[in-house]
Parts: sequence; structure tokens; C-alpha cells
Amino acid sequence: MLDNVNKVIDESRQGEAYGQGILSEDNGYARRFYIESYGCQMNFSDSEIVASILNNSGFGATRNIDEADLIFLNTCSIREKAEQTVRKRLTEFKKIKQSKPDMLVGVLGCMAERLKSKLLEQEKLVDIVVGPDAYRSLPILIEEAGSGTKAVNVLLSREETYADISPVRLNSNGVTAFVSIMRGCNNMCSFCVVPFTRGRERSRDVNSIEQECRDLWENGYKEVTLLGQNVDSYYWVDPISEQVFNFANLLERIALINPEMRVRFSTSHPKDITDEVLHVMKSYDNICKYIHLPLQSGSTRILQLMNRPYTKEWYKAKVSRIKEIMPDCAISADIIAGFCTEEDQDHQDTLEVMKFSGYDFSYMFIYSERPGTLAAKRYSDDIEPEIKQKRLEEIVLMQNELSFTSNKKDLGKTFRVLIEGNSKRSESHWMGRNSQNKVIVFPKIVGSTLKPGSYTSVLVDNCTQATLLGTIIE
Ligand code: SAH
Ligand code: SF4
Ligand code: F3S
Repeated sequence: MLDNVNKVIDESRQGEAYGQGILSEDNGYARRFYIESYGCQMNFSDSEIVASILNNSGFGATRNIDEADLIFLNTCSIREKAEQTVRKRLTEFKKIKQSKPDMLVGVLGCMAERLKSKLLEQEKLVDIVVGPDAYRSLPILIEEAGSGTKAVNVLLSREETYADISPVRLNSNGVTAFVSIMRGCNNMCSFCVVPFTRGRERSRDVNSIEQECRDLWENGYKEVTLLGQNVDSYYWVDPISEQVFNFANLLERIALINPEMRVRFSTSHPKDITDEVLHVMKSYDNICKYIHLPLQSGSTRILQLMNRPYTKEWYKAKVSRIKEIMPDCAISADIIAGFCTEEDQDHQDTLEVMKFSGYDFSYMFIYSERPGTLAAKRYSDDIEPEIKQKRLEEIVLMQNELSFTSNKKDLGKTFRVLIEGNSKRSESHWMGRNSQNKVIVFPKIVGSTLKPGSYTSVLVDNCTQATLLGTIIE
């Protein structure tokens, strides 16, 4: 989920969309908090809920760690490296704490949930540990920790969706925003820690999702991304009318808010994405033609071990179906190299499905055993690190070729692009995305009224593996 730059991804989903984020400043608060987020967009979205809860109890955000009364790390457990990054960061905080003994350090998110009070024992300077479903208790826990008690709440909930909390969009470009539509996951993929750290799946009230998206539109936002670990299993029943909403119904409802507001979503599970969803996507120009469809492995045998209930053929048929209904739809994937018992033939199957699917981009990882998962209990992590690495490299190489081929196909095409801001490389260029979620960089026109949040037509005249380059044509 889902920055579209074809980064060579190593173990950890760090950087840009998945990386470290620091919220910006707020004035007028007596006490200040500093928060860094790691992991997936759900975590980034949760940090905005945390910011809202903290604002309401008198804490303003600061970018400057030295003036913070509270430091929070919203953590990720997905791979071992993600946890190592957090531990390293905590060590760095030690120095600050030495000179400011009253400052409190809190660990939030998936690592808090996984390690619970063990974190307090392992990391001596941590004062507060709060799991993803317990953020409402933060103000009380801060008080407790302030009076010297170590404060922990890692209770998971079957109901909590934070539906009534308006996230504080502190680190935003003012153009695109994430809206959480569900929490938790019931899938139990054998490699994955998320069901343990985020609990059971539950869907948020459709009306509160719609309201949040409307508010964003009214505040000038032009794109919402509906977030969930498995958005296609969204299911909500209106308690009054008893009307049932599945993901296709929700998507349509959000698309109808305004035809000029783009709608994206992430993540789809190949087993759950329906023709109904594909047809809704096709019917609305403002629903972006891009699906993140994690493959994990192209080998049916490995998929079974992963507890992913589809076969290689079934996945390929799903890709064909998407292309049949929406020939212009981009597809990306998550891929794991070196899962337990993986043989060269399994790896070749993965490369074959990648080629068949022609992914526009992918997120690629080395398998990292996570304590407590089904795979950790049942199978041995038996692939040598060098072989894992070599397979990852082959997967990355394949993806680089596919991305370049995909980008070259766009040469000469004109896309409607939503401008997100200046290009990273030069202030004289804009950066935006097309519906397919590809980044397009193009020169600004002197004297033009275009600004972040504007749509413009861009003719693609050049490309790299990762980016399309173009010129505005009005
Ligand atoms: N809910 C989303 C993904 C959540 S985690 C989905 O099902 O698609 C994001 C990605 O991290 C996964 O798709 C998977 O490719 C990767 N991942 C999860 N656990 C992992 C592990 N133990 N080792 C390596 N990669 C892992
Ligand atoms: Fe993890 Fe699978 Fe759930 Fe995704 S669908 S969060 S990979 S258990
Ligand atoms: Fe990481 Fe938790 Fe997301 S483990 S990927 S932050 S759900």
C-alpha cells in the first residue's frame, strides 16, 4: 500500500508511503507530543487518530523532538527488521531522556501489541505501551505514567473502529488522504503477524466513512484511499434500516460524493475481490484504475502452506478478469521470497506469474519468521539466507523489467494527472499521479494557475523504470 515508485524493496517497508512520518506543528498547546510512524498506511492513519485524541486532552504536535513532553513511536512488527528499526530509535531516545527525565516515551501499534508489557522490561526507558485498539485510553495512561506507574493497555476489541474520531491531518499534502474503513484481519495467512497485532476484522459504519470523505472533499482534498487489510470483505449492516453494505456498495457510495474526488482502496485479497467490485470500478471514472493484488507466491504448493486459499491458476484467472473488465487497470503485488520449503521450481512459478500479470509495480520481501504465527509454529524457516537473497534479487530484476515495459507502453499517451506537489528533484517540476497510480513528473508552466490539487492533462514523452516524464497539454 501503496507508493507507486518501483523501489528496490529489501526486508522492510520503510521509506515514503511505508516509512517514517513526522507530524507537523500545532500552536497553542501547553504540552507537546512528537510522533513517528512506521509500517503500513493503517499505522499512519492511526497516528492521525492518536493526534486527535491527544489534541483533545491538551497536547499539541511538534516536529521538534527537543521540545516534546511526550514521544510516541507507532510501530510495526511485520518483519524482524521493522522491529529492529524501532529498537534502535528507542536507544537514541535514551540520550534525550537523560537530559529530560520528565519526558515520557510511549510505544504504540503492532509491536506494542505483540510484546505487551515485555517491552517495558526489555526497553527500560519505555513508560507507556498501547495497542492499536486502546488509543482512547491514552489520556489516562499518560496521567498514570506521569505519576510514575508504567502504563499498559493492549486489549484488542471486536468493536473499536474509532468511527466517531476525526483524524487530525497534520502531515498532509492537502490533496490526498487515507480513510480507514475496517480494522483487523481474519485471514490468518501463516506468515503474518497482523491477525495477532490487530485482532479480529470489523467494519466501520458506512455513514461515518462517507462523512469523513465528504469533510475531506469540503476541505479541498481531491483523493481518498479507503484502507483495510482486506477491503473486499467489508461488510456493514445498518442497525436501523437493516440494509447491508458490501465493499462494492461502499465504493459506489464514496464515488458518488463528487465526480472530481478520486477514490482508491487498499488492500484487496485475490480470493475476495468480486466482479461486482470490478464493475463498480469500471462504472465510475473517479474510481482509480489500480488494484493492489498481493500474490505472495506463484506456487500453489507454497500458497497452501501460506494459508492463502487460491491456486496459481486461480490468481492468473483473476488477473485476466480484471484486464477483461478494465483493460487500462494497473495491477501491483506483494511478493515474499524464500518462504519455508520453497524450492527453485516454486520460485520459478512466482517469476512466471509475475510475467503473466505484467505488474506495474511490486513490493518484494524476504520471508522473515514472526514469533507466534502459524508458520513459525508449523514449519521450519529452512531456506538459506543467501538463497532467499538471490531469489529476491531475481524477483526485483523481473519487476524492474516489467515496470520499465509498462512505463514504455505509456509513451505517447495523455493522462489526467492530479498534482500532489513539487517534484522531489526540482521546484520547477510538478509531481502527480494518473489513475493507474503511476507517478508523473512534468515541468511547470510559468504564470499558470495550476497548484497542488489541480487536475491537468499530461502527455508522456519519456520515462525511467520508476517514473513517467511528460509535458502539460491543455
Ligand atoms: N493485508 C495485506 C498485507 C499486509 S502486510 C494483504 O493481505 O495483502 C504487507 C505485506 O507484507 C504482505 O502482503 C506480505 O507480502 C508481507 N509480509 C507479511 N508478513 C511477512 C513476513 N513474515 N515476512 C515477509 N514478508 C511479510
Ligand atoms: Fe496478513 Fe493475510 Fe491478513 Fe494480509 S490478509 S493482513 S497478509 S493475514
Ligand atoms: Fe506493520 Fe501492523 Fe501494518 S505489523 S504492516 S503496522 S498492521
